[in-house]
Amino acid sequence: MKHFLDINKTEVADLRGMIDSALAMKTARLGRPKGALDDEQPLKDHMVALIFEKPSTRTRVSFDVGVRQMGGQTMVLSGKEMQLGHGETIADTARVLSRYVDLIMIRTFEEQVLLELAEYADVPVINGLTDRSHPCQIMADILTYEEHRGPITGKKVVWSGDGNNVCSSFLHAAGQFGFDLTFTGPAVLDPEDVFVAEARSKGVTVSIERDPVKAVEGADLVVTDTWVSMHDAQSARERRHNQLRPYQVNEELMSHAKPDALFMHCLPAHRDEEATSAVMDGPHSVIFDEAENRMHAQKAVMRWCLGQ
Ligand code: CP
Ligand code: NVA
Repeated sequence: MKHFLDINKTEVADLRGMIDSALAMKTARLGRPKGALDDEQPLKDHMVALIFEKPSTRTRVSFDVGVRQMGGQTMVLSGKEMQLGHGETIADTARVLSRYVDLIMIRTFEEQVLLELAEYADVPVINGLTDRSHPCQIMADILTYEEHRGPITGKKVVWSGDGNNVCSSFLHAAGQFGFDLTFTGPAVLDPEDVFVAEARSKGVTVSIERDPVKAVEGADLVVTDTWVSMHDAQSARERRHNQLRPYQVNEELMSHAKPDALFMHCLPAHRDEEATSAVMDGPHSVIFDEAENRMHAQKAVMRWCLGQ
C-alpha cells in the first residue's frame, strides 16, 4: 500500500518523480479553464474521501479540484459529523471507508489517528496535516522553489518562527532533497530534536541560530508560518506573540538574505504578525504560487498512491 504519510517516510526517487509529474501536469494545463478535465483521466471511476477534523481552505479546495480535473469524484467529510468523532474506532472507520472509496485524505490532530487509519485501511491514505507534519504543503513548496530558481539541492533555507508541523516537514524535505536548513526562533519553540537529528544523519547541515539577522545571511529561501497553530492552546497566544515578535519576516530581515531570495508562507497568514504585508506582497514573495501548486503537487501524490 502506497500511503503518503510523510516526506521522510517516502523514497527520494518517488518524491522526485512526484515533483516532475506535478510540473508536467501543470504545464499540460496552461491556459485552460480551472474546471477543464486533464487530457488523461487517471482518476476516472475513482472516489476520494477528504476528511477534515480541522478547518481548511487550500487543502480542501485544491484536493477537490485536483481530483475532478483527473476525472475522479470526491466527498468532503467533517470529522465531527462522522461516527469517528463519536467513539467509533479509527480502525473500524478505516475498514468501512475502504469498502466505499479508492483513496482517503485526512487532516487531523494527533499523528496517531493518521497512522492508525493507514494501518487499517485497504486503500492509500494521504496526510493532509497533523499536529506534527504537513507533507503536501512542502511538496508544493519544493515545486514552487524549483519553478522559480531551479534545483533546491544544496540551497540554504531559513525557517523563522515556530518550529511547528510545517517546519517539521521542511526538515524532512531537507534530508530527502538535500538542502541546508537554518532554524531561527526562541529555544522553547525549537523544532523536534528527532527531526533535526534525522536530517543531519542524511548529510545536510541543520543549524539553530537565535539571531534572525545572522540566520538569514546567504539564504536562498526564507519561510515562516503562523505564530499560533490550529492545535495550539489559544491561551498561549499572547506569550507566543511576545516570544516570536523578534522573528517577524519584514523587509529589513529580508534585506540580509540573498538579493534573489524567495519568501514562502503556507497560508493562512496573519498579516503584519509573522510577516509584513510589504514582504507578502513584495518581490521576494511566491505565496500564491505555493497555494496554486498545492493542487498540482497533490495530483502527483494521488497518482503515485494509486500506482500510476
Ligand atoms: N496551507 C494550508 O494547508 O492551508 P489550509 O489550512 O487552508 O488548508
Ligand atoms: N501550522 C499551521 C499550518 C496551517 C496550514 C497549523 O497547523 O495551524
